[in-house]
Amino acid sequence: MNSKNSVVDFYNRPLHDLRISVIDQCNFRCSYCMPEDVYAHRTFLTKDQLLSFGEIETIVNSFAILGVKKLRLTGGEPLLRKNLPDLIRKISPISGIEDIALTTNGIILPKYAKSLKEAGLKRVNISLDALDDEIFGKMNGRNVKVQDVLKGIYAAKDADLEIKINMVVQKGVNDHQIMPMVQFFKDNDMNLRFIEFMDVGNSNGWNMDQVVTKKEIYQMIQETFQLEPVSRQYYGEVAKRYKHIDSKAEIGFISSVSEAFCSTCTRARLSADGKVYTCLFADKGYDLLHLVREGTSQELLTHYIKQVWNKRVDRYSEERTNLTAQKEKIEMYYIGG
Ligand code: GTP
Ligand code: 5AD
Ligand code: SF4
Ligand code: SF4
Repeated sequence: MNSKNSVVDFYNRPLHDLRISVIDQCNFRCSYCMPEDVYAHRTFLTKDQLLSFGEIETIVNSFAILGVKKLRLTGGEPLLRKNLPDLIRKISPISGIEDIALTTNGIILPKYAKSLKEAGLKRVNISLDALDDEIFGKMNGRNVKVQDVLKGIYAAKDADLEIKINMVVQKGVNDHQIMPMVQFFKDNDMNLRFIEFMDVGNSNGWNMDQVVTKKEIYQMIQETFQLEPVSRQYYGEVAKRYKHIDSKAEIGFISSVSEAFCSTCTRARLSADGKVYTCLFADKGYDLLHLVREGTSQELLTHYIKQVWNKRVDRYSEERTNLTAQKEKIEMYYIGG
């Protein structure tokens, strides 16, 4: 890695991670992300509007020069992008890249887990919000069965991918699934993370009353299970982690609402149509697709991204109020979380 090029933002936060959305489409309609009533007739990006794998490779090269070590592929549902293992094969050898992970809803994983692993993928985060079919079917908006996601989870395990399970908790919707989920994933020796329902985008009807906080979930779990804290793995880790004292399984909390972590936020985001965003809650992206298609040199592209990061002042979750929650924002399916 070329450390002389590493870059910090206005608040001295380094650039370490790039989250790459490879497609804005999804086969689920989660109520907290793409509610069916809002997205039933929405049109999505056309093939020409999507960055090609070669263009993503060029952009990742620049980010790696600036200090990015971790890549995460997201969507929409990233496995809907054709030939995704080919992209992983292109970007995993890039100098400086140490880790490539994927965030998925899991139902197409049985088809791809092995080829993703062979291509260089190390880790998958799989979303599962309930173990009860009725609740899960309602939340995913497509009546997908829990068993279909479990098949994806087991396929990832068979392929030797590291796995984390993501559960978004919404009060009155799936909070009574917290304890069954803890028990199930403890029994299966897998890491489970609780995500506070966030005010991403403008279409999920977010309201503070629907948030179950880290503290509330932790207290609930502690009444039955004994947990001990685990020290953070790296600077800027999003989840606060604990483990069961009598198992390898971990419990994590992503508490972006009740305990914001902007002060150590090292993540940039690239949308499927080639815009770079410096915050999940941003309303404005910087267009790299045009730069790459105009044949801009690698050096100039790197310089442009460096300038974008240098002037970054985002700290949305630390500043959040009911007023900021109403501002115009990009949608989660478009930027991938
Ligand atoms: P790991 O490297 O495995 O820890 O990945 P991750 O937790 O960063 O990624 P994942 O895609 O599994 O995201 C889990 C949740 O954290 C999602 O709800 C994301 O939207 C949220 N998240 C990830 N990064 C950020 C961030 O920088 N800010 C906020 N507010 N939420 C984030
Ligand atoms: N709040 C919190 N997490 C969300 N996710 C999607 N929308 C929201 C939201 N409004 C989660 C998904 C997935 C990850 C990428 O982001 O469940 O695990
Ligand atoms: Fe649900 Fe993820 Fe699809 Fe959004 S992108 S609808 S969170 S599966
Ligand atoms: Fe980073 Fe924005 Fe999330 Fe804060 S709200 S942690 S600045 S992405």
